[in-house]
Amino acid sequence: MTADHTGTAPALDSSGIRLYDQADELRAAAPATRVSLPSGLTAWSVTRGSIAKRLLTDPRVSRNPRRHWPGFTEAGQPGWMTPWTPASMLNADGEDHTRLRKLISRAFSPRRLEALRPAITDITTALLDGLDRQPPGDLTDLRTAYSYRIPITVICDLMGVPLAERPRMQRVMDGAMDTGAAPEDAAANSAEMIKALRDHITYKKTRPGPDMATQLLHIHEEDGDRLSDAELLATFILLVGAGSETTVSLLDHTTVSLLSSPQQLAAVRSNPALWDDAIEESLRLNPPIMHMPMRYAAEDIDLDGVTIRRGDLILIAFGAHGRDPAIHHNREAFQLDRQDKSHLAFGFGAHYCMGAPLARLEAAVALPALFDRYPNLTLAAAPDDLPRVASFIGNDYASVPVYLHGR
Ligand code: HEM
Repeated sequence: MTADHTGTAPALDSSGIRLYDQADELRAAAPATRVSLPSGLTAWSVTRGSIAKRLLTDPRVSRNPRRHWPGFTEAGQPGWMTPWTPASMLNADGEDHTRLRKLISRAFSPRRLEALRPAITDITTALLDGLDRQPPGDLTDLRTAYSYRIPITVICDLMGVPLAERPRMQRVMDGAMDTGAAPEDAAANSAEMIKALRDHITYKKTRPGPDMATQLLHIHEEDGDRLSDAELLATFILLVGAGSETTVSLLDHTTVSLLSSPQQLAAVRSNPALWDDAIEESLRLNPPIMHMPMRYAAEDIDLDGVTIRRGDLILIAFGAHGRDPAIHHNREAFQLDRQDKSHLAFGFGAHYCMGAPLARLEAAVALPALFDRYPNLTLAAAPDDLPRVASFIGNDYASVPVYLHGR
């Protein structure tokens, strides 16, 4: 565990309410600032866009806890960190990272992804048909009934997860985001998450199919050096987790931003080519991932007067870049015609999100379909009043109440 050298590190807020305000405070304070995390961990928070990009490509910054976190033991870490340390590509550097990333990169090629478009369209159409059957005038939670269902269905289809197991996957992946959970609940959820994915591996051994899980299992069975037992499990956890929780937020935030900006909504309605701008502007303004734990200093790093010591934890605030006043003017406005929509929502450098094109594709199918089906879609509460997911990892609303046909 890393000690807090100053004894004054502020706690990183887990309510989901102060994500942007706290990022502003930390950004103004220093290039890297000590923050305390659940279960007594302390990390360096990095909120300035330029510094984040520098560290994301600095070879002295590792993603491998096994090599560079002195406090790491396979069984001894706090439960909330367990989902963020399995031996997947996300937690590997150098050659190991390249080897693990290569195993699934073909599945995310532009051609393979484009082939998924009809299936994503079918999923959204079926969900919208289901919404049509609701009594007109009823309040609908769009997150539960629509945004949540699309990414989880797509990734579970890709990974061959049977229908009966999907609620369990959903529950454990929700739990992985909950940084406000009591330590014993976080530990129980992490144990259940590992069990759920182990059960899925066992299931796929007897029921192979035309899915990514079966392909990964074959690679592991043919050559354990290419994909070890631990790496197989970790890759399953990474894909199901990354594929489900994140895109939900992209759909929620883009919908809420458009419904609360009539001019921007009118612009995208009159020119569907602007959907890509709406999605990128949403990723800049409301990135689905605020932090994705964790990085580790492999050597001492001097950062414009702040010294990060070897073995210290580093938490990059991916979600802070899009609102960095040194980068974006009028940063809190949602503007489709903004010239510079740059963001770090999908990361930067070697670990740049593999699923970014899939997330963008899901959004590009699901959002126009929703707004076309319900031209009078209306938010039932002011955006500031919507409940938030309790997390400093994910950045999402806990529900998005709407009237499908207007008030
Ligand atoms: C809007 C949706 C998404 C967001 C905001 C997002 C965000 C991110 C971020 C910030 C990283 C970099 C982590 C780091 O450097 O520490 C990442 C990595 C990753 N993401 Fe995503 N992600 C999204 C959707 C997806 C989807 C749909 C998948 C696929 C199933 C996916 C798979 C991955 C994988 C495999 C990595 C690890 C890449 C590596 O370590 O080389 N993501 N994601």
